[in-house]
Amino acid sequence: MAEVIVALDLTSGLDAVRLLDRLPDVRWVKVGSILMTAEGPDLIRVLADRGLRVFLDLKWHDIPNTVAEAVGAARALGVAMATVHTLGGAAMMQAAAGAAGDHLAIVGVTVLTSHDAASYRRAVGRTGVDLAREVERLAAEAAECGLAGVVCAPGEIAPVRRRLGPDAAIVVPGIRGRSDAPGDQVRVATAAAAAEAGATHLVVGRPILLAADPAAAFRGFLEEARCIGS
Ligand code: C5P
Repeated sequence: MAEVIVALDLTSGLDAVRLLDRLPDVRWVKVGSILMTAEGPDLIRVLADRGLRVFLDLKWHDIPNTVAEAVGAARALGVAMATVHTLGGAAMMQAAAGAAGDHLAIVGVTVLTSHDAASYRRAVGRTGVDLAREVERLAAEAAECGLAGVVCAPGEIAPVRRRLGPDAAIVVPGIRGRSDAPGDQVRVATAAAAAEAGATHLVVGRPILLAADPAAAFRGFLEEARCIGS
């Protein structure tokens, strides 16, 4: 089974809390740059006090000391999972893992799903990079540096799972119901397919946030994600 993480891609903490009032079964929420910048750490405390597991998705990519301090601050806030960029390098990932302790899982962003091969090759200044192999390479590097797992696109789950083994966290955005609009997500999968392929956490935003009945939409994803495995 996989957990369903509701991406609180909203600009107002009040709107986030109102939405959560309608979703009593939610266990995991994702707070990204938008909501964190708008509302700050008080909202994280409010969410944690409601018993929610908070995934703080700020995708840190900085010098090791700065990232380790940020991880320490997230840990003190009671955050359950947070992201760093694997391209931040081994020393940075090791520093993040070392600062996380036992209750905060640090997962590494491999190749942003907004990259295609051409834009990634341009960003890293290398020709002939194969994106799928690059994701696997960075995932292996993340595991070697002590991270709990990675964030990847639906199509990358199976090879990453084979490479990292059974214990790694694999966090996957781009989850859609069969009748949902993909929006700007290009590579999408159903919750059932992603869970079947080996994802541990499914990130779902607009299909729940924009649903006429968010609670029913959430329950649908939960049922799909949980009917796999245990
Ligand atoms: O609305 P939707 O379900 O597409 O939201 C997906 C969430 O996952 C958004 O918060 C987005 O920023 C995040 N995300 C993503 N692709 C990544 C990493 C994070 O879509 N590679």
